[in-house]
Amino acid sequence: MRLLNPKHHLEQLPPEEYCRLRGRSEALCRKLMDLLHPKAGDVLLDVGCGPGELTSLIASSTGVTVIGVDSDEGRIAHAVQHDSTVRWINADATALPFEPATFEAVVMTLAIQRMNGKRAIGEIHRVLRPGGRFALASPTPEQLQRRLDLAFFPRAIRFEMARFPSDARIRTLLRDAGFGSITQEVFVESTGVADSQWLEWIKQRPYSSLRGLSPEVFRAGIRELEEYLNRLPSEPVLRNELVVFIGCKTAA
Ligand SMILES: C[S@@+](CC[C@H](N)C(=O)[O-])C[C@H]1O[C@@H](n2cnc3c(N)ncnc32)[C@H](O)[C@@H]1O
Repeated sequence: MRLLNPKHHLEQLPPEEYCRLRGRSEALCRKLMDLLHPKAGDVLLDVGCGPGELTSLIASSTGVTVIGVDSDEGRIAHAVQHDSTVRWINADATALPFEPATFEAVVMTLAIQRMNGKRAIGEIHRVLRPGGRFALASPTPEQLQRRLDLAFFPRAIRFEMARFPSDARIRTLLRDAGFGSITQEVFVESTGVADSQWLEWIKQRPYSSLRGLSPEVFRAGIRELEEYLNRLPSEPVLRNELVVFIGCKTAA
């Protein structure tokens, strides 16, 4: 299937608008920190940090030293302006500018679909210390096909399913890079959107795939979604599921 024109990607939005549509990150931050349990003195890297909202939350909630890396200059410039407690670096995940064994923990959220996963995960393994842990959070095709908010936009859901790597692919990438003790769990992401407001939310096209639809196709999907919601006896709950994978770099 033809990939979306890059101009439709959510990341093309100004950073403030991206953060607003991305939704709140507190619950995801808590989940990642529960899984990684960083300690005082640890250094943590966020790869593909975007405008840095989650990165800043990790820094403020844990007190550990945090570095955010993103290949987009504009995202990093935004992050630098908003938080001076984190060190922000404009660099590519596939060529991380760090010595081997620099970090106790690495996170990557909603970014693996945008890069060469094999090279990026290989780099993450290289910069982790032995015993260090990597948390990768991403929607997977398995989760996406359960999403009520996309169900009325078949072209968008096909696109989303094609661009995110599958559970099996991510596990293979982690294993091939050298990670051990790989686990995964589903995390139901809080979007911060009240159940009663999510039709209005969807009308703002908060996903890249919805932005790529023609106005007619989008309107037709919205009409069907409205009809469906009107028939429901109670308000539906908007569930955005992510899968969080954890890999551990085997101690030497
Ligand atoms: C959808 S955003 C996710 C941002 C943030 N992690 C979040 O959870 O909101 C994906 C980010 O990955 C970044 N990115 C894409 N390819 C990259 C690469 N090769 N190296 C580093 N960052 C990359 C993009 O610039 C973008 O900011």
